[in-house]
Amino acid sequence: MPTAPTAPTALLPRRRWLQAAAASVASGLGTPAHSVPTGTIRLSHVVARDTPKGMALERFRALVEEHSKGRLRVQIYPQGQLYGDHDEMQALQLGAIDMVAPSLSKFGPIGFPEFELFDLPFVFDSVDAVRRLTRGAVGQKLLRGLNRQRLLGLGFFDNGFKHMSANRPLLEPRDFVGLRMRIQGSRVIAQQMRAWGAIPVTLPFSETRRALETGVVDGTENPVSNFWTQGMQAVQSDLSLTAHGYLGYAVVTHQRFWDNLAYSDRRLVQGALDEALVFGDEIADAQNDKALAALHLTGAANIHNPSPAQLRLLKRAAQPVHAELAARIGQDWLDTVQKALQKTA
Ligand code: SIN
Repeated sequence: MPTAPTAPTALLPRRRWLQAAAASVASGLGTPAHSVPTGTIRLSHVVARDTPKGMALERFRALVEEHSKGRLRVQIYPQGQLYGDHDEMQALQLGAIDMVAPSLSKFGPIGFPEFELFDLPFVFDSVDAVRRLTRGAVGQKLLRGLNRQRLLGLGFFDNGFKHMSANRPLLEPRDFVGLRMRIQGSRVIAQQMRAWGAIPVTLPFSETRRALETGVVDGTENPVSNFWTQGMQAVQSDLSLTAHGYLGYAVVTHQRFWDNLAYSDRRLVQGALDEALVFGDEIADAQNDKALAALHLTGAANIHNPSPAQLRLLKRAAQPVHAELAARIGQDWLDTVQKALQKTA
């Protein structure tokens, strides 16, 4: 009798394993499981441990294990070692993993285009402005919307603002012309790159450094903590501090997994996560500042600051991106965002 596949291995690569897992679920063999003990929450993410996301999730693990006195465990798979950007949501749907923490830009491609409002260039002037949204009615509405695919959003947290890297400074639109820029799979980010004359290339995060190294792409955008911890400074000579866009995350689980937890465990897990996400928000700035200081100290990349006039040029050229998103998700969403930002400014 066939058995459900247990985990991707060298002999059974991820994509084929996911297909096999899907087939086993479809044929009633049950939910595929990694070989982890009962009471283990399997959590996958794509960045390094020493990033704001890696550290916040590590704090979550410690809190769950402490509050449950070891009855519950959290097994974290960082750096995309189990699933990359494209696979992790599918793995969550299939029950091959229990929680993920993708960047908000990863929700558009799987059917939640309203999350792309966080990708709009030059909309948020501080992380506090973003938090007014994520911690208010807009954030709640976005998380509730995940129910459309039986996903459950457990909370938001920050990384910070993205900057541009390449083997030349990227300070105004003409600097971008003709460059192939790696992006996450967000249509807003693709349009932003096109608006500045670049060619967007969607790639999983785990493939980005290699793609930069081999010349598949010429540049990319990310907060400094991701840039530094992936060692992108070894393959990109210039980092331009444009702070043009925000990068944050949502922690997501599947309704089926949640329903299978005892009510008291749901409270324990949600409480631990809330505390860990506050911790993540508190350290995000410091981790990004630390990475920038390391870049300055080592001289590993040339750091550039755009002038106010250059930022105005970037901003002006990106204006059509806003209208294009409004056409896709409805002007109502953007009006709500504007109102929430004004009300609390
Ligand atoms: C992440 O921080 O999770 C990855 C961001 C990216 O794909 O650029």
